[in-house]
Amino acid sequence: APIKVSKILCIGAGYVGGPTCAVIALKCPHITVTIVDLNKARIDAWNSPDFKLPIYEPGLEDVVRACRGRNLFFSTDVEKGIREAELIFVSVNTPTKKSGVGAGFAADLNYVELATRQIAAVATSSKIVVEKSTVPCRTAESMRTILEANSKPGCHFDILSNPEFLAEGTAISDLFNPDRVLIGSLQTPEGKDACAALAGVYANWVSPAQILTVGLWSSELSKLAANAMLAQRISSVNALSAICEATGANIDEVANAVGYDSRVGPKFLKASVGFGGSCFQKDILNLVYLSESLHLPEVAAYWRQVVEMNEYQKRRFSKRVVDTLFNTITGKRIAVLGFAFKADTGDTRESAAITLIRDFQSERALVNVYDPQVVEEQIWLDLTEASPNVPLDSIKKQVKICGSALEACRDAEAVVIATEWKEFKEIDWSEVYKHMKKPAFVFDGRLLVDAAKLTEIGFKVNTIGRPGA
Ligand code: UDX
Ligand code: UDX
Ligand code: ADP
Repeated sequence: APIKVSKILCIGAGYVGGPTCAVIALKCPHITVTIVDLNKARIDAWNSPDFKLPIYEPGLEDVVRACRGRNLFFSTDVEKGIREAELIFVSVNTPTKKSGVGAGFAADLNYVELATRQIAAVATSSKIVVEKSTVPCRTAESMRTILEANSKPGCHFDILSNPEFLAEGTAISDLFNPDRVLIGSLQTPEGKDACAALAGVYANWVSPAQILTVGLWSSELSKLAANAMLAQRISSVNALSAICEATGANIDEVANAVGYDSRVGPKFLKASVGFGGSCFQKDILNLVYLSESLHLPEVAAYWRQVVEMNEYQKRRFSKRVVDTLFNTITGKRIAVLGFAFKADTGDTRESAAITLIRDFQSERALVNVYDPQVVEEQIWLDLTEASPNVPLDSIKKQVKICGSALEACRDAEAVVIATEWKEFKEIDWSEVYKHMKKPAFVFDGRLLVDAAKLTEIGFKVNTIGRPGA
C-alpha cells in the first residue's frame, strides 16, 4: 500500500528545486519540506531575514514568507535531511559536458551520481527517490543500480521520474496550475505504490485528471520531447522571420494566421532574436546525443537543426545591426536593453544577449548594457566565458553596465532590445531619442515596441520578421 508522506527532502536549492518544493510546502501544510544545497551562500540567501532570495521569480517571496520556519526549511545539512525524509527529490544541476565523451552534447551526470551515492551511503530506512533534474533517458535506471548496489539491509529504494515543466518567470503560477504532473515509475507493485505516494502529494492541489502516471522511460523522454517540440516551434517561426524580412511579409501576421489553426494553436509562436534558457538547447543536444547513441543519425540531424537555426537567428540579427549601421560598428556605441534570457527572470543561462554582445565586441563596438534584474557580476562572468581569450580588463574597456535604460541609450547610435522586459515598452522613447546620435536606430529582437510610434518620433526601427527601415 502507498505510504503517507510526511517528510520531504529536496537536494538542490536552484531554479527548479527551490520554487517547486516551496510550493509543495505551501500546498501541503501537513508535510515538512526541507531543501538542502552544498552551496552555503545560496542557502543563506534562502534563509535571509529580509527575504533576499537567491532567485528572482514573481510570487516566490510570498510563498516562502508563508511557510519558511513553519513546514519549509533550508539547510546545508544534506545527511540529516536524507536520514529523516521518506521522499527525496534530486534536483541538482545537469549541465552539458564540457570535456570527455559526448562533450558539448551529453549531460554531465556527475552531480546526480554524487547525490545518489550520498543517499545510498546515508539512508538507514527505505526511501522514495524522485528524479527531478532534467536528465537523459535511463538516468533513473542508473540511479536505481547505484542505490541497490549500495543499500543497507532493510533499506529499499523506489525510483520515480517526475520532470518539472515550470518556465522561469512564471514558475509560481505554473506550479499552482500545472498543465499536467508527470510521474514515471517501474510498473511493479512497489513502483506503483511509490507513484501513488507522490501522486498523493500533488493531489493536495492538482486534479487527478492532470496527474499522468507512465513508465519510467516514457516520463524521462517526455520531458526532452516537450522541450524539443517547444524549441522547434520557435526555430520554425524564426526561420519564417528570415523569409519575412526578405520579402516584406510580417511575421506577426503570419504567426497569428498560422496559430489560429486549432491543430497548431497560438502559443509559443513569437519570433525572437533566439531562444535561451538552461533547458532548450541542453535538452535538444541531449536528444541528439541519445539519437546518435541509438544509431539513429537521421533523427539526430533533425533535432540538431533546431539548435542550428537558433544559432543562425542570433548571427543573422547581429549581422543585421552591422549591415544597417553602414557596414561598420567599430567605435560606435550600442545600447543593449536586457541581458536575461527572457523577461521576469534574472537568469542569463544561454541568453541571446550574451552572443549579441560578444559579436558586437568582436566588431569593436562600445556596448552599454542594462537589465533590471541581472546582477553585475553575472554579466561579467557570462561575457568572460563567451570570449575566453579576452581578459576581463579589455572587456570592461568595451562594455559598460548601466543603471537604467535611459542611461544605457545616452549617446548611442543604436538600441538593441534583447529581452522583452515590460519596462522597455514603457520607457519614454522621445527622451531616449533626444539623447542619441542621429540617425537613431532601434533593433527590436523581441517584437516588443510599437514600431509605428517610434518611427514617428524619428527612429529608424528594425524589427525581427519585418523588412528594415
Ligand atoms: C522552458 C519550458 O517552457 C518549460 O516547460 C521547461 O520546464 C523549462 O524550459 P524556460 O526556459 O524557463 O522554460 O522559459 P520559456 O518561456 O520556455 O522560454 C525559453 C526561451 O524561448 C526564452 O529565451 C524565450 O524568450 C524564448 N521564446 C519563448 C521565444 O523566443 N518565443 C516564444 O514564443 C516563446
Ligand atoms: C492538409 C491540411 O491539414 C489542410 O489544412 C490543408 O488545407 C491541406 O493539407 P490533408 O492533406 O487533406 O490536409 O489531410 P491532413 O489531415 O492534414 O493529413 C495529411 C497527412 O498527414 C495524412 O497522410 C495523415 O494521415 C497524416 N497525419 C496527420 C499524421 O500522420 N499524423 C497526424 O497527427 C496527422
Ligand atoms: P536547476 O536550474 O536545474 O534547478 P541549479 O544550478 O539552479 O539547477 O540548481 C542546482 C543546485 O544543486 C545548485 O545550487 C547546486 O549547488 C546543488 N547541488 C548540486 N549537487 C549537489 C549535492 N550533491 N548536494 C546538494 N546540493 C547539490
